[in-house]
Parts: sequence; structure tokens; C-alpha cells
Amino acid sequence: MALLRIPDEGRVLSDPEAIRSHLSPHGIWYEQWPVAGRVDRQATAEQILTAYAPELDQLKARGGYITADVIDVTADVPSLQAMLDKFNKEHTHAEDEVRFIVRGSGVFHIHPNQGPIFAIEVMAGDLINVPAGTLHWFDLCADRDIRAIRLFREKAGWTPVYSGSDVAVGYQPLCFGPNYLPVGTPRAATLPELSA
Ligand SMILES: [Fe+2]
Repeated sequence: MALLRIPDEGRVLSDPEAIRSHLSPHGIWYEQWPVAGRVDRQATAEQILTAYAPELDQLKARGGYITADVIDVTADVPSLQAMLDKFNKEHTHAEDEVRFIVRGSGVFHIHPNQGPIFAIEVMAGDLINVPAGTLHWFDLCADRDIRAIRLFREKAGWTPVYSGSDVAVGYQPLCFGPNYLPVGTPRAATLPELSA
């Protein structure tokens, strides 16, 4: 389940409907797909794409996406920091950045045209899009572990176009992780099933 933080206002949203309401004016959609029992940690990319084919086929038809692949980033990846440095600076893409998180977590910071910068932490089961042209940047959480399905219209359109701003430096990629519980929120209502 995603968490949305608005650092400049000191607010955290954890309710999926509240998150959707905040994202909607920015053209960002957020969904949750079931992950329990779908794939195991050793699943190949092909097995993952097959397991989620029903949802992926619907999404492709809805968003005009042509292809999907699986990205697997762990602390073992050679040149990990160089890879992360490509995406942790403010940038846009010529096409949507669409991600379904199979395992692990990460943080997208969104810099909207209007309103404060906000951070959305995505975890297993979360599907999010960052629309083409939206200023954003991405960080892994401290455990540096994420496996995600990516959807594309044209892979070339996903090349980062940097804004040249260093605004990202002022925003720490805070991750609360799956054990974070907002005060007063029932545990059963907040924890995703992280079996993937
Ligand atoms: Fe991006």
C-alpha cells in the first residue's frame, strides 16, 4: 500500500482513497493489484509477466501501452549508484512512467505545476503512473530492493529529460516501509500482503 507525504505541509496520507484524491488532479492514477500467491521471489521475468497478464492486458488496452518488461534492482547490481543517479534528479519523460511493484519499495517525488511537492512511497501490489511531462524523481528505499513491471508505448520515450533543477536535494527519500502504522489506524486495514 502506498503512502503519500507532503513534506512542506508535514502531512502523510495512507488511506487509498485519500491518496487517489490527491493524485487525481495531477493525472496520476494509483491502483492496487493482489500479490499474495502470484509469484515467488525466484520467479523469472517471464513468469511474472504471465502471472499478471490479466491485469497487464487490461492496462495495455486502457492506456495504449504496447510492451511490458520487468526491472529487478537490488544492492548487488553492479554500478547501482550510477543507475540510481540517473533517476534521482528532477526530470520528465515523453511518455508515461508506469510501474507495478512486485517486490520491495521506492519513492517517487512529484513536482506538480501547482501545489506542493509530494512523495509517494510504492510497495508490493502498487500500480502507479507518472504522466508524460510531469516533473519527478525516484529513489530506492534504504534496503535498495525493488522488482517492478514497466509498461511502455515506446521505450525511447522513457529517456529522462532533466530539468536542471537541484530541487531534489532538499527532499530526503523517507520510507516508512510495510511496518509503518499511522497512529490510530487498524493494522489489518493498513498492511498489504507482501508475499511476493
Ligand atoms: Fe522517471
